[in-house]
Amino acid sequence: MKKVVGHIISGSLTDGLTMRIAPESSLEQLKTGKFLSIVGTHHRFFSLITDISLAVTNPDILLFPQTPEEALLSSLLKQRDIYATAVLKPMLMLSKDLQPIPVKTIPPHFAPVYEADQKDVALIFGNEHDTSKKYFNIGCPLDMQTPVCLDLERLTERSNGIFGKTGTGKTFLTRLILAGLIKNEKAVNLIFDMHSEYGLQARKEGKQQSFVKGLKTLFPNRVVIFSLDPDSTRRRGSNPDVVITLPYQAIHVEDVLSLQNELNLHATALEAAYLITAKYKQEWLSTLLAQGENLKEFANTIGAHPESIAALYRKLKRLQLLPFFIDASSGAHKDYSVIDQMMEYIDNGINIIVEFGNFTQTFVYLLIANIITRRVHSNYIAKTEKFLGSQKKEDEPQKLMITIEEAHKFLNPQAARQTIFGIIAREMRKYYVSLIVVDQRPSGIDEEILSQIGTKVVAQLSDEKDIQAVLTGVANASNLRSILASLDSKKQALLLGHAITMPVVIQTREYDEQFYRAMQDGVSSKQIDELVNELF
Ligand SMILES: Nc1ncnc2c1ncn2[C@@H]1O[C@H](COP(=O)(O)OP(=O)(O)OP(=O)(O)O)[C@@H](O)[C@H]1O
Ligand SMILES: [Mg+2]
Repeated sequence: MKKVVGHIISGSLTDGLTMRIAPESSLEQLKTGKFLSIVGTHHRFFSLITDISLAVTNPDILLFPQTPEEALLSSLLKQRDIYATAVLKPMLMLSKDLQPIPVKTIPPHFAPVYEADQKDVALIFGNEHDTSKKYFNIGCPLDMQTPVCLDLERLTERSNGIFGKTGTGKTFLTRLILAGLIKNEKAVNLIFDMHSEYGLQARKEGKQQSFVKGLKTLFPNRVVIFSLDPDSTRRRGSNPDVVITLPYQAIHVEDVLSLQNELNLHATALEAAYLITAKYKQEWLSTLLAQGENLKEFANTIGAHPESIAALYRKLKRLQLLPFFIDASSGAHKDYSVIDQMMEYIDNGINIIVEFGNFTQTFVYLLIANIITRRVHSNYIAKTEKFLGSQKKEDEPQKLMITIEEAHKFLNPQAARQTIFGIIAREMRKYYVSLIVVDQRPSGIDEEILSQIGTKVVAQLSDEKDIQAVLTGVANASNLRSILASLDSKKQALLLGHAITMPVVIQTREYDEQFYRAMQDGVSSKQIDELVNELF
């Protein structure tokens, strides 16, 4: 028989239900975010605790706190007069025939409340061993051992966000989800790996310095590393599959637009860039950088203000210090061979990690991610149009997910309007491309883009603006707010949105040896045990 945690005594659909906690329940075991089931007459209501408080039947009782000697009085009072209540927010109802439906009603007075059990969790969140391979175990509800699964197919249908303060486990969560997408082949991934944490190995904080395996190490045949800094990749123990070099001709004015904040570029300098482009087309940057002494004359020939040209030149000159940009005016590298190579891998379902090595300046990250993504995206538009024309199954492009960290730098209100990432986030999955945005400051992201995000994985956030931002466009926001504020500072997250049946708080799945084994191809160790049992 399951233990009753308490009974519903009041509440409403909008504000949540109040449960009187049963005297025999241990109050301090009940935490915000805990997953409970309320049994009504016709439905079960799956709910999260959003608040807990103390109450008494008569306020006079509070005037005479009991001493430890008054044990009898104390236990009598606990039976009837002093108690605690919890606010429960129902997130999903289950009808008698086990169909999940949105919550549109409430349970009656005194409906009993139980801890949800394993069967409930599996029923609601799917079974990771399901043959559709669409369910991916991402962690367990608080104080439970049964996996909560993300629906990977739904995840790839929209852009998604992973948010949380620094050190809360965003990168670990992202790596877990990417491993799930790669293992179950639900999407091809292009990952812009600013701090070299996804490919070979990543540092794990803790008492002792230790390392965890990266995606290339876990899936050597399905992941390739493109590196801007091959020496750095080699120092970490492996040759990159491809060394990235890009001709100046690959840089468009739009890519420079995304650097406006980072390089402190004035609008007039950008206008000058457009003027140069009008005359020199894709040679605009190599032409500008070749001017040196002749800036004034050059400004006159294209009809730009000399000071704007000089400012633009000064700001962009630092691109010459980056060894992976080459001037290919002579013709050698005019084709963007590296990006073509990338497309070939993507077409074959191989996942790509772009490593930046020691080039961790934000403007490099922004620039490279913009150049590559713009090209890959236009390729996907062509593929999609081909598919729409032929309508042949074999022409249908595979879904592509692009992962970016520090997303607010790509998607702040100004950049979101102009750059390729804003376009992808807004057009949704029309061209089979979507984003995984990882960010510690979601309030910096454009509001419209935030509201387009399908699934959110939110670790602890403390800034009020950030909490508000991640809850933009979410029903029940006020109830979820208190849950978000009380998450642990590591390895806990609130999941909500398109790929999860109902909002739920999880203890993140551990990224460890056991996880590596589960990601190995072939049968799991549990299945091997079953096979052995059958044979003997
Ligand atoms: N699922 C997990 N399994 C094992 N360890 C984890 C997990 N999640 C977080 N950790 C621990 O928490 C530390 C911080 O996690 P992570 O690097 O993902 O944080 P972050 O949110 O990406 O931080 P930053 O904003 O600084 O990039 C890790 O080094 C690791 O020790
Ligand atoms: Mg990180």
